[in-house]
Order: sequence, then C-alpha cells, then structure tokens
Amino acid sequence: MNLHDTEKVENLLHHAGWRPAHALDTADLLLINTCSIREKAAHRLASDLGALAAWRAAAAGRVLGVGGCVAQQEGDALLRRFPHLDFVFGTHNLRLVPELAEAARSGARRAETAESRSLERFDLPERHPEFAGHTPGRAWLTVMEGCDLFCSFCIVPLTRGREVSRPAAAILAEARAHVARGACELTLLGQTVNAYGRHALRRDAAAEAGTLPFAALLGELARIPGVRLRYTSPHPIFFDEALVRAHAELAPLQPHVHLPLQSGSDRVLARMRRRYDAAGYLGLVERLRAARPDLALSTDLIVGFPGETRADFEETLRLVREAGFADSYSFKYSPRPRTRAAAFPDPVAPEEAQARLEELQTLQRELTLAYHRRRVGETTEVLVEGPSRRADPAGGASRQLSGRDPYHRVVNFRAATGAVAPGDRAQVRLVEATPHSLIGELWRVQRPPGAADERGQPIGPG
Ligand code: 5AD
Ligand code: SF4
Repeated sequence: MNLHDTEKVENLLHHAGWRPAHALDTADLLLINTCSIREKAAHRLASDLGALAAWRAAAAGRVLGVGGCVAQQEGDALLRRFPHLDFVFGTHNLRLVPELAEAARSGARRAETAESRSLERFDLPERHPEFAGHTPGRAWLTVMEGCDLFCSFCIVPLTRGREVSRPAAAILAEARAHVARGACELTLLGQTVNAYGRHALRRDAAAEAGTLPFAALLGELARIPGVRLRYTSPHPIFFDEALVRAHAELAPLQPHVHLPLQSGSDRVLARMRRRYDAAGYLGLVERLRAARPDLALSTDLIVGFPGETRADFEETLRLVREAGFADSYSFKYSPRPRTRAAAFPDPVAPEEAQARLEELQTLQRELTLAYHRRRVGETTEVLVEGPSRRADPAGGASRQLSGRDPYHRVVNFRAATGAVAPGDRAQVRLVEATPHSLIGELWRVQRPPGAADERGQPIGPG
C-alpha cells in the first residue's frame, strides 16, 4: 500500500510538471514515504532526516517533505522537531502534495494530515504518459483503504483511518486503463481488501455506494480480456462462500493467497483480537484448497506477543506446518503507541522473542524448500521484473533475470542479453530449488502487445 502511495504521489507530481531527478545532487524535491507498522521502520525516519539536513542546506530552493503513516501520526510535531523539513502530508492527503511542494518553494512550511471518510482521496488523475509506474507488466489498484478491526497490536487503524471502499465503476475503469496500457496483472489493494464494500452491504446501501460484494468485484474484473488478478491482504474472517468459490471458478485469479495468521494459539489470537481461532483458520485453508488444490499460501506471523508462552509458540509452529505455507513473513512483536497491546503487562523477554523468531524462520525455510522441490520439473510462466538480485558470475552475453510465477514464487533464470525485458511473460522450466527462490531455464518469451524492447524499438510479431 505504501509503495503504491509513492506511485500515486509520483504520478501527481508528473501532472504538476515535475520529472524524476535520478540523483540527489540534481534533485529539487525529495519526499520520504514512511511506515510505522513496527518501531524500527518508524525510527528510520529520524536517521534519514538527519542525513538529509546537509542535502537540504547545500543549494537554495531545495524542498524536503515527509508523508505516510509516521507523518499521519506525528503531524506538525515533525516540522517543530526538524527545522529543515518543509512539509508533512498524511495518508489521506496525497492529492495536496503538488500544492505543498509549490508552497514550500516560496517558504511555506505546512503539515496537512486531516483525516476524512470521503472518497475524494481516490479522485486521482490517470497515469501520466511519462510515468511508467514501478512494476512493469503489473499494476496495483486500490479498492479500499483503512481498517475498522483494531487488532490489539496494530497501528494501522490509527494511521490509515476508517474503512472506505471505492465505487466499483471507478475500479473497473482504472483496471481497463491499466490493461490497455499493457499491464496484464492487477493486484487489488486494501488494508483488509476482502472487507471491500461490507459496510454498505450490511446497511443495504451497496447500490447507493456503487460497491459490490468483493467476489462479485473480482468476477467483473475477471471479464477484462487478458487480465490476471491478485488481491492483498485479505482478513480470514471476510472469506464468504462466494470468495472461496471465485478461486475455483475465475481462471484469471492467480493461485496464491497471502493470508495473515499472526499466531497459531487460540489464547494469543483472542488477545490479539483477531476474531478467529486456529481451527477456523485451518478450516478456511481447507475450503480454499478444496476450491483450488494447487493454491499456494503465504502468511504473516508475530512472535513474542505479550503473554505468549513457549506452549503458545509451539501451537504457531504446529499450525505453520499444518497449513504448509509456501512462504511467511515473521516479525517480533513491537509495541506501538496508542494500541491496546502496548498496555499489556506481560512482555516476552527480547532474547526469547529473538530465539522464537529464528526457530520459526528455520521451520519456514524448510517448508519453502520442500515446496520448491516439489515444483522442480514443472514449466511455469514468469512475469519478468528485471535483473536478478542474485550474483551474476557468468555475465557476458547472457544475464540473470527474475520475476514471479502464478504462485507468487520468485523464479530466476538466464537469458541472452536483450532477449527478455521487464513486463515480458517467460515460459520457464524449473530446474533447481533453493530456500528463497526457484531456478529455471528459459523456454519461450511472450511480450505484451505494443511493448518496446530494451533499446526502445517496437518489436515485431515473433
Ligand atoms: N509488531 C510486529 N509486527 C506487526 N505487524 C503489525 N503490527 C505489528 C506489531 N506491532 C505485522 C503483522 C501484519 C504485518 C503487515 O506486520 O504480521 O500482518
Ligand atoms: Fe491491522 Fe490488519 Fe488487524 Fe486491521 S486487520 S488492525 S490492518 S492487522
């Protein structure tokens, strides 16, 4: 969601006449988009801003702004704390960035962090022709924002505000525009994406709000020719039968779901206010796998939540094994200001939390490797992101590329220089499994219609 907010701001700035500088020395405007989900992320802002004081002072007219969840929380306190900071924009105020940047050039220092429930924040201009976005071949698409669930550990409801869903017509129009521009894969975004439209539905006001049940929205999007769909992140309690069935019936829906679990212990889940228990979660996993037997699942987990005992943690290990996650993101609990859990009296010792994190990550590495090994021999389609992050010792006439397959696994493969570009779909045979990615051999490439090759020349058929 944050990365997509960065895209939205970049697009707005393109429309206001700004262009990317590519290097700090030549930049006139620098924006930091912040995250406050854990303390470490929030702390980075102070060190980044400290390091940028010299940049801001080195030339007249330079402008420095901060947005995102830390900006939302701190507001104008940031302006007081950092005298070289020009402006602050909150999570509901992206549209004001061009105006704030312009005002800063004439010396105004402003913080705009008003929260609103209005849909105005979604009224954003179309992609500027000179702004390609960050994800060749793919596009993010906001369908809802905010969260009303208030899990006891989570700061998101406080930084992102209440749940607001966009009208389906606007989502469909944006989706069609992305596909017309050559994106084949759309990822629907929302803090609890499958809560989309639920409030209007409950109030019997869906027609007025222009929303649909989430599964019906997926159904409508799936009719766009050539599209592939993902959504992130859903909450386990908002999977109705229609959404489970969508995974069986909608061919464009990719066979991967990121399904945050957080803990495998019922006691901890209750204290986290997650509103499901381990059996309910596993039941959902079974229903999803019954609908789509090859579905890959990934998850988020927190260790060291206040009061988590060794026995609770072992329940998490057990559930992770049982669900057979292809991947997971695990974190040590980090107390966040103004959340309920921050006042819980029974913290887990940091060394214990660290040990549990390592144990969980070791288990996940084994599970991921096992999953990858089962895939070796398959042919899969990789949506190419760009050069691989892996070392490329061979180099020369070929290079390592990387992308994701339908199951959202990272696949690396080698191709002749220039033969494959970001956004291409490469048919790859999987030949080797590692704990973090799969290694494949290129078989065939399909380039989106109208795309240019790396030298900027349109390529002909074949
Ligand atoms: N401490 C640790 N992890 C957290 N997450 C959210 N809040 C916290 C916190 N206070 C994790 C959850 C969530 C992911 C985005 O970040 O696992 O799913
Ligand atoms: Fe945070 Fe997700 Fe819980 Fe909402 S549902 S409070 S975003 S963890």
